[in-house]
This record gives sequence, structure tokens and C-alpha cells, in this order.
Amino acid sequence: MSFSAYPDPVAADAPIGIFDSGVGALSVLRHIQARLPSEHLLCFADSGHAPYGGKSDAAIIERTLDIAAFLSTKNIKAIVVACNTATAAAIEALRQHYPQLIIVGVEPGLKPAAVFSKSGKAGVLATASTLASSRFIALRDQISTSTGITFLTQACVGLVEQIEKGELDSAETIAMLESYVTPLLRGGADTLALGCTHYPFVQPAIEVIAHRESAVPVTIIDTGEAVSRQLERLLQQRGLQRFETTAGSLQAFTTGSRSALVAAFAKLLNQHPSAVSYTHLTLPTTPYV
Ligand code: DGL
Repeated sequence: MSFSAYPDPVAADAPIGIFDSGVGALSVLRHIQARLPSEHLLCFADSGHAPYGGKSDAAIIERTLDIAAFLSTKNIKAIVVACNTATAAAIEALRQHYPQLIIVGVEPGLKPAAVFSKSGKAGVLATASTLASSRFIALRDQISTSTGITFLTQACVGLVEQIEKGELDSAETIAMLESYVTPLLRGGADTLALGCTHYPFVQPAIEVIAHRESAVPVTIIDTGEAVSRQLERLLQQRGLQRFETTAGSLQAFTTGSRSALVAAFAKLLNQHPSAVSYTHLTLPTTPYV
């Protein structure tokens, strides 16, 4: 498949594409809907290929470019990489292929974690791939050096799969969270950065563990709201924000099960099929490793 730069000037009426390896897209989407209610949104959940966390960078770049190529056929004005793992592996490639498109990525909230932490230690929960990425390591080192904070990192292997299954508080998910979160708290972290867009959906369960394990209040950082602010800023900068009083539309696409996505919208966002048009796609045909 070949990719070309985004071809035409776009109008404010054009939609915004938001994608993730799966239902993590919804945790970012909700903030974009709240901040920018007039925007037309295309939500792409690559659930047929989740999780991204154990894949090679080359595989994640290929998925990202295939999804971006699909979304750009919808005349999008912006793309939100609502996935820490894809941002870490593929945002540079995406920017090279689509230099004229507004591109917003998502990164674990290390900067706010450094601001909020009083103990000088913050935990970071993310996929193994995000934590191993040079982008994450550079950000971590830069913020540690400038603020003196220590980051305790934890790869949450298997957690994305649990959330994809809708198991937000099953015994298995809680046991997983206990094993990932407790050592960070016992290590002195008073702030936890959710470095994967799936994890805000298990924030209530994390809060229960934090309340039990920590003598001090624990701050949990979800970067979805910051992403929506950055998107708004860039749309305004380019004169591309849609200011119509009519609400924007929402279309959802999945490479997984259509009914699972419908159920995820209902369970995670309390949004129902009548408001959303759902499409199942087998995109792409390109094989990946
Ligand atoms: N929501 C993705 C992220 O933010 C999950 C990645 C995965 O599929 O492993 O990293």
C-alpha cells in the first residue's frame, strides 16, 4: 500500500479521526465530545488487532498507517492517536506521511505526575511497548532530571485484553491490578499516571486499591482531557474548529466485533446505538508481523 501526503485544504466541517488498538479510543473520545461537541467524529477501534502492546514497532507503524489511510479517505481534518503505544511507535511516521494534517498523540502524563507528587515518586502504568520506547525513556529522563522525581514503571501485561472483554472488575482483572498497582504504592508512589488509554476504565478499581494500600491520598492522572485541549488549540490555530450549534455526528468503526463495540459504547460511555453509526471493517488486507 502506498501513502501520500494529505492532498487538499480542508474545511472546518471535516471530521476528526480518533483511533486506538481498541476501546481505549473511547476514553479519549469522551473528553473530545465534552470539549468540542460540534465536531464530527470518526472513532476507529482496531480491536481485531488488539493488543498493540506486544507487537513490534514495525507492526504498530503499519497498523497506524493503514488506519490513517482509511481515515483520510473520509476527508478528515485531524487525527488523534488515542493510543500511547501507537504514539510512541508511530507518530513520527504518521507525521511524515501526513504533513498537512493536524496530528495529536497521547503520552503518559509524566509532567502532571511530577507536579502533583508530594512524595517525589510517581508510578506509571503502561504497556511494555510504551515503557520500552525511546520516546518514553527520553521523556522520563528529561522530567526526572528537571524535577528530581523518580518514576516507578509497571508494564500491565494482559490488562488491555481484560478491558477489551469488558471485564472491568472481574476477579481476574482485580487480581491483575493488585499485582501491578500495589508494588508501586508500597514503593512510595503517591501519584499514578495511566499511560494507556484503556486504563481509565479501571480507574475505580485502582482507586479502591490505592485507598487501601496508601496512607496518603493518591492522584491518578488520565491525559484524555489534555489531549482534547491540545486538539482544540491546534484546530483554533488553523481556523478549523467547527462552531455550528448543531451537535457533531459520531461514526464508529471496528476491525473486531461490531456488537462488542456497540456494547462497549453502552457500558463505557452510556452511549447507545441510535446515536452512533457502527461499521465493521476487515481493514487492512496488508499482512503484518
Ligand atoms: N490503548 C492503548 C494504549 O494507550 C493500548 C495498547 C495495546 O493495545 O496494547 O497504549
